[in-house]
Amino acid sequence: MSEHKRSILLNPGPVTLTEGVRNALHRGDWCHREPEFADLTRDINGRLVRVYREMAGAFDAVMLTGSGTSAVEAMLASFAPQDSTTLVVINGVYGERIAKILTVHGKPHTVVASAWDEPMDIDRVRSELDMQPEISHVVAVHHETTTGRLNDMSELGELCRKQGVNLLLDAVSSFGAEAINVDEWNVAALAATANKCLHGVPGIAFVLARKAMWKEGLQPAGSVYLDLAAYYQGQHGEGFSPFTQSVQAAFSLRQALEELEDEGGWEQRRSNYRRRAGRIAVTLKQLGLETMLSPEEYSCVLWSWLLPKGLSYSDVHAALKAEGFVVYAGQGDLSKHIFRIAHMGDIHEDDLDRLDNVLRSCFS
Ligand SMILES: Cc1ncc(COP(=O)(O)O)c(C=O)c1O
Repeated sequence: MSEHKRSILLNPGPVTLTEGVRNALHRGDWCHREPEFADLTRDINGRLVRVYREMAGAFDAVMLTGSGTSAVEAMLASFAPQDSTTLVVINGVYGERIAKILTVHGKPHTVVASAWDEPMDIDRVRSELDMQPEISHVVAVHHETTTGRLNDMSELGELCRKQGVNLLLDAVSSFGAEAINVDEWNVAALAATANKCLHGVPGIAFVLARKAMWKEGLQPAGSVYLDLAAYYQGQHGEGFSPFTQSVQAAFSLRQALEELEDEGGWEQRRSNYRRRAGRIAVTLKQLGLETMLSPEEYSCVLWSWLLPKGLSYSDVHAALKAEGFVVYAGQGDLSKHIFRIAHMGDIHEDDLDRLDNVLRSCFS
C-alpha cells in the first residue's frame, strides 16, 4: 500500500491517480536504451492510436517527455510550414499560446480571434480561407480549458476538408474523453498529454499524425528537442527516442491506457465525466451559483462557474482545499469572476458525496 493522503484534484490535470497507475511508477529501474523500453514505447504508441477507432491504421503516434505544451509546440514546429500560412482559431488562452508559438518559431500565420466567452468565429475563418489561398493549415483547440468550452469542430472540420486544408488540433484536454472525428474534421495531426483524460502521471506528451504526414508533411522544425522527425525515425525504427524519456511516467501511461480500455474506452469515460459534471451542477445550482457558459456548450471535462457575490476565488479554494478538494482559478481577468471544476481522475461516488457536503457548507 502506498502511503499518501488522498487528494481529490478537480483542477484540469494532473489528476487523482488510481492505485494501479501510482503503483506502476515502481515497476523497476529501466534504461531507456534497452530493448524492453523500445517494446514499451511501441506498445504505448500502438495503444494511443487505438484509443479512437478511426485513427487505428491511419495514424502513427510518437511520445516525448514534456507537458502538453511540449507536444503542441512540437506539432507546430514539425508540421506548420515555412512557405505557406497557418491560420490559428482563438477563443482562449490555449489558442493564444498557439499563435505565440508560431510567432516564436517564425512561421507565417494569421489569426481569427473571438472573445474568450464566444464560440470560434467560423464565418471569419471561411472568409479568410476564401481570401487567402496560401493558407494550408488551420490550428484549433478542441476543448478550450480557459472556459470549458468544447469547440464545435464539425463546421470548421468540414471547411478544412472541402478546401483541402490540414487541421492541426490541440486535443490536450479532450483526448481520451471526447469524440474526435479525424476523418470528418480533416485532422492531419493532434497533440495531447498523459496526465489529463488518460489519467497518467505528468511527464509524457504525444503527437498523433496521419501516416502521410509523417512521410510528406514534416517541415524543418527549427528546434532540436521538438523535431518530431527524429522521434518518428527513432520510435518507429529501432524503438528508441532521440533523448532520455521519462521511463516511470511511461510505466504509468501504459497502465492508464490499459485501465481506459478495461473501463470501456473514451465513450465510457465521457459518460463518467458527464455524470460527475451533472451531479456537481445540480448541487451548485441549488446553491444559487451560475455557469459562465450555457451548459450545452461545455465539455464533459471541465465547467467554469461564476463566483458568487462576496466570495473570492481564494476563499473558495481555501474552503475546499481544507477538505481535500482542489479546484482551479480562472485565467487572466477571469480570475476575479470564475472558478473551474474539472471532472477527471479516479473519483468515486463517496468522494462526490463528500464534495456535495463541502460545496453546501462553502456556498450556503
Ligand atoms: C487545451 C490545452 N492545451 C494546452 C495545455 C498545456 O498543457 P501543459 O500545461 O501540460 O503544458 C493545456 C493545459 O491545461 C490545455 O488545457
